[in-house]
Amino acid sequence: MCGIVGYTGSRQSSRILLEGLKRLEYRGYDSAGIAVISPEKKISRYRCRGRIANLERLIEGEHPEGNTAVGHTRWATHGRPSDENAHPHTDCSGQIVVVHNGIIENYLRLKKELSSAGHRFTSDTDTEVIAHLVEDELNGEVSLAEAVRSALKKLQGSYALGVISSSEPGRIIAARKDSPLIIGLGEDGNFLASDVPAVLPYTREFIFLEDGDKAVIESGSVTVSGADGAETERKPLTVSWDPVMAEKQGYRHFMLKEIYEQQRAIQETVMGSLVRDTGKVIFEDFNMEPAAIRKIKKIFLIGCGTAYHACLVGKFLLEDFLKIPCEVDIASEFRYRQPPIDSETLVMAVSQSGETADTLAALREASSRGAFTAAVCNVLGSTMTREAGGVIYTHAGPEIGVASTKAFTSQLTAFYLLTLHLGIIRGMLDEKKALEISEALIHLPNKVKHILDTQNETIKEIAHRYFKKKNFLYLGRNINYPIALEGALKLKEISYIHAEGYPAGEMKHGPIALIDGEVPVVVIATRSCVYEKVLSNIEEVRARDASVIALASEGDSTVSELAEDIIYIPETMEIFTPLLNTVPLQLLAYHTARLLGCDIDQPRNLAKSVTVE
Ligand code: M6R
Repeated sequence: MCGIVGYTGSRQSSRILLEGLKRLEYRGYDSAGIAVISPEKKISRYRCRGRIANLERLIEGEHPEGNTAVGHTRWATHGRPSDENAHPHTDCSGQIVVVHNGIIENYLRLKKELSSAGHRFTSDTDTEVIAHLVEDELNGEVSLAEAVRSALKKLQGSYALGVISSSEPGRIIAARKDSPLIIGLGEDGNFLASDVPAVLPYTREFIFLEDGDKAVIESGSVTVSGADGAETERKPLTVSWDPVMAEKQGYRHFMLKEIYEQQRAIQETVMGSLVRDTGKVIFEDFNMEPAAIRKIKKIFLIGCGTAYHACLVGKFLLEDFLKIPCEVDIASEFRYRQPPIDSETLVMAVSQSGETADTLAALREASSRGAFTAAVCNVLGSTMTREAGGVIYTHAGPEIGVASTKAFTSQLTAFYLLTLHLGIIRGMLDEKKALEISEALIHLPNKVKHILDTQNETIKEIAHRYFKKKNFLYLGRNINYPIALEGALKLKEISYIHAEGYPAGEMKHGPIALIDGEVPVVVIATRSCVYEKVLSNIEEVRARDASVIALASEGDSTVSELAEDIIYIPETMEIFTPLLNTVPLQLLAYHTARLLGCDIDQPRNLAKSVTVE
């Protein structure tokens, strides 16, 4: 997904931008570029297809001087990945420079009109129309900010925008609509970015722009105006992530580092809200009064990809403990169906980034139809956290690897906390039961560490045995069925091996036709109410010559007699097995992808944050 970095201040800007763009590489991109205003008020622009390293090589030796600049990593939506389509884009004169995230929906019509009026286009992008529209408006009588404001009135679609012009060096004009944009407040200059890690080494003070906001950023000042055009105050927030947290810390990949950070991420998510002595939960930003909680008649859980899998686990918990009907929807589907929703419906959007376009649209839809909405989110200040009626924060810290790991287990943790919270208030959990659950929850982080300490080598060996296989099947039942889906998703995302997750009992209704000696079958067979049923499913698989890789509870000797390979999971309450079972499946995907030499942190075709529909 595209990324934006900008800087204006007393320092040389090109180095800051290149570093910032590198920190955005995790978002996924196909080309990159920067534009710098020189002391002589000339624009130097460098763009190329491929990695930031290519851009660095292009700039090497030129050392473009200048204190104001904007840069971009592009993930193609309009026009193929190429040098010409890489941002920044300019007007005809090359003096107005634009970087843009989002999609301009009416760009074809605008491009036609601008071309007829004599503008020359040099790319296939939707973005370039913005530069030419600003050029039309900037006639010597209005400021760059005013010209941008007028140009924006003609745009339909979404944008996070950074605009600079050689006519006003020392100034960046920013604007956002349906695409995230932040301003970092520094000591010797100010920053523009699409997300926080880009400029974390320079500041922790951020203004999170809201939809419709425009800003004028100068070295020593930031002025924001809201959707109505009036100047407005946006209070800066202090972000506690430090830059080191956003680096690899000696791990070969961000994904592996993030798998190992799960002990801490779960602990922090729990400790952020749980009162250990009583089992009660305090969600500071949930904003739903006990009276309203008692009135909930129905819950919808909405998310995409991995977050959707967290919702599936959430459904088991909420229906089991609260006895409230709960539906789970893939966000892009929820948007276009019409389920009955009213003020006694709770709709929860689950998202690591808080910016996923489909989930955000579903959240807006739910809120427009009168539901109480809440977000389970990892990114403070993200759009969802600002638009939802309430928020439950996961405290996973920045997740850089495109494949979600610690964000997922933190989302599961948030669902455990939510179950406790709603269960206590609705009188479905007495203190004894609440304490039993919360005690088990508190011990989960150590159990995650135990799996990482004791099973990693075994999992590496298993990956060695199977990494050349072309298809995998993942089976689970009941509350662990979503973990079969998640295990399969992890493997396909990062190793490009075809993998299917299935409820084990459903296998005989079709997928069993695929099973032969060439298809390894990963079976989640930890102790549970469906344990015996899963053993029968393993027998069905073995009868078709497939190799079984089983997840079993420590001390289980039955499964070890049935499976070729076995990964042991410490005992816990059944409701917590999804979280523990997730960890070895992440490692299995990781080691397999590594053996195949895949680009683990930035898998092909994927983006960390999908901010377009
Ligand atoms: O930021 P979000 O949690 O809303 O992202 C949702 C999905 O795009 C995300 O989980 C995706 O499926 C990951 N690549 C999974 O590893």
